[in-house]
Amino acid sequence: MEKKVLKLLEEKRGKPISGNRMAQILGVSRNSVWKAITKLKDMGYPILSATRRGYLLSEESDILSSEGILPHLTHKECGDHLEVFSTIDSTNRYLKEAAAAHAPDWSVAVANEQTAGRGRMDRSFYSPAGSGIYMSILVRPDWASDDIVFLTVTAAVAVRRALYRLTQKDIGIKWINDLYLDKKKICGILCEGGFEMESGRIGYAVVGIGMNIHPADFPQELRTIAGSLTHDPINRNKVVAAVLDELYEMTHPLNKKAVLEEYKTHSIVLGKEVTVISENRLEKAVAIDIDSDAHLIVRYPSGEESALFSGEVRVKL
Ligand code: BTN
Repeated sequence: MEKKVLKLLEEKRGKPISGNRMAQILGVSRNSVWKAITKLKDMGYPILSATRRGYLLSEESDILSSEGILPHLTHKECGDHLEVFSTIDSTNRYLKEAAAAHAPDWSVAVANEQTAGRGRMDRSFYSPAGSGIYMSILVRPDWASDDIVFLTVTAAVAVRRALYRLTQKDIGIKWINDLYLDKKKICGILCEGGFEMESGRIGYAVVGIGMNIHPADFPQELRTIAGSLTHDPINRNKVVAAVLDELYEMTHPLNKKAVLEEYKTHSIVLGKEVTVISENRLEKAVAIDIDSDAHLIVRYPSGEESALFSGEVRVKL
């Protein structure tokens, strides 16, 4: 019952709806509606009672839920297999297991907190409750396995577009999978996949996106590196919906050339001096281009050029 009442309140967020009306729509007694409202309030939902006009979910409510995400989706099919967790170990881990158990294309897991969030290069990803969004999308594209890098690139552009649409902030992309705002990392992306041996095609891929939305109390070692999207109130459910819609649109169908163009336009690495980190060696170079396979082309002081396809570059912002 709480979910049904929440759905009605989310649909009218910020505007009152009477207990009577909800009871009528749901075909239950006013008392059951009242009980559901009490439970939702206990769960932390800011529900106000407007005299004689009923209940309203405060505009500032920021609890992640499928009821909160679905009304904002343009491509409703993105929400067909959507699960929202208040806490989970890792949404990527969850969906990789689901993939092995034949979960469908566009299964989506969203969490308010991760207790074992995973980053690239076996690092952990700090995922505290209440401030960020940790989400993964399971896709089963009919692509060659070499194209998996495009999922990372496309996800970076899609998230950038979504965050720009909601905040108009000038967010930059750091090759290959990080988003930066005001010189601080606000989003990291980790794509993990399984490919089919026989066909050499991608069997499935899990696109994991970790976004710092509201300011958070970052641990000391992250304070100079990590930032957050905004100090202003923002509904994280809307952010999730915007990211899903953009990623869905950009992959149906995928236009590699257009995606790369947009990726390059917002790159904060191109033209900059970078430090290439490989096999415990640090080398200075200049990032000169991103090629059609999303490799970063760097030029060393010797004039030699090389195409990086993974690993890491450090850039002074
Ligand atoms: C990185 O910056 O190294 C990538 C971070 C990716 C974090 C996201 S949060 C959702 C998903 N679940 C995980 O455990 N990791 C990814």
